Amino acid sequence: TRTLRVALLGHGAVGSEVARLLIRDADELAQRVGARLELVGVAVSRARADRETPFDPALLTTDAMGLVTRGDIDVVIELIGGIEPARSLVLAALESGASVVTGNKALLAEDGATLFAAAEKAGRDLYYEAAVAGAIPIVRPLRESLAGDHVRRVLGIVNGTTNFILDAMTTTGQGFDEALAEAQRLGFAEADPTADVEGFDAASKAAILASLAFHTRVTIDDVHREGITGVTAEHIRSADDMGCVVKLLAICDQSEDGVSVAARVHPVMIPKDHPLASVRGAYNAVFVESESAGQLMFYGPGAGGAPTASAVLGDLLSVARNRLLEVSGPAERTHARREVLGIGDA
Ligand code: HSE
Repeated sequence: TRTLRVALLGHGAVGSEVARLLIRDADELAQRVGARLELVGVAVSRARADRETPFDPALLTTDAMGLVTRGDIDVVIELIGGIEPARSLVLAALESGASVVTGNKALLAEDGATLFAAAEKAGRDLYYEAAVAGAIPIVRPLRESLAGDHVRRVLGIVNGTTNFILDAMTTTGQGFDEALAEAQRLGFAEADPTADVEGFDAASKAAILASLAFHTRVTIDDVHREGITGVTAEHIRSADDMGCVVKLLAICDQSEDGVSVAARVHPVMIPKDHPLASVRGAYNAVFVESESAGQLMFYGPGAGGAPTASAVLGDLLSVARNRLLEVSGPAERTHARREVLGIGDA
């Protein structure tokens, strides 16, 4: 059997789960791809002697650039987040001939154009299902399933942390600070909650969704952004009096004539009988309205190690199959095609 070599950048909640599943399910994944997926390196920011890994600790390296440029890597999985060094690493990986799977919403929303141009030039894949709404398949539906339709509007709850906080404020009557502290205590909000509560994370996702939905380039700078730090217990109560709940929504739409595109993130009062009102806790939901398909709703866990790892592995299998179709002989191609058709080896 052929082997595809995989490098993992980042060993946090998502990265460690991806590594665990790659090793636990190695035989099954090999069957589904038609090639073994071998983890050949895991880049971390700091070497830690006490780090428990399901793989040989010798695979750990602090030299991410050395790993992605060593020349024999088929797929790089980037899960370190942020702009640099992630951007340089992704660009170097593509230039070195690897396909890339990333969950990096901030990077895609700020400078996706540079990454896509590099992938195009290198003739390699760049997949990023994990960048928007964790486990929820939304990138592929917009890019592929709905490619022949005309998407009119995308709106959704795309940040679990803020939804958790607003939900807690609604059910307990707590103020913002109290609900944030509770979310931090339970691990739903980070120690520095700025990216979530100020709406940057949701704005990145809105830029990615708008770009896909409207076949154009929308960056985070194009997204009007207001977070939830100004939402008070009083706002939540008055919304309740009006039969509404407050949700942080990402809203992407197109002008009537289809000429301009707008994306924005801000708190919205929505009626309690609206499907988005029932999205509780750290869950996400994305509504898509398109000309022919009508209204679609995608719902599920929007964050967390295991759910996000599911999206990463799905992308990994897609790019691995594509890679195999390029490099393989007829037998492997037949296997890969049968897997894509969902019929396996009959
Ligand atoms: N902080 C994000 C959220 C995680 O709360 O939804 C996934 O981007």
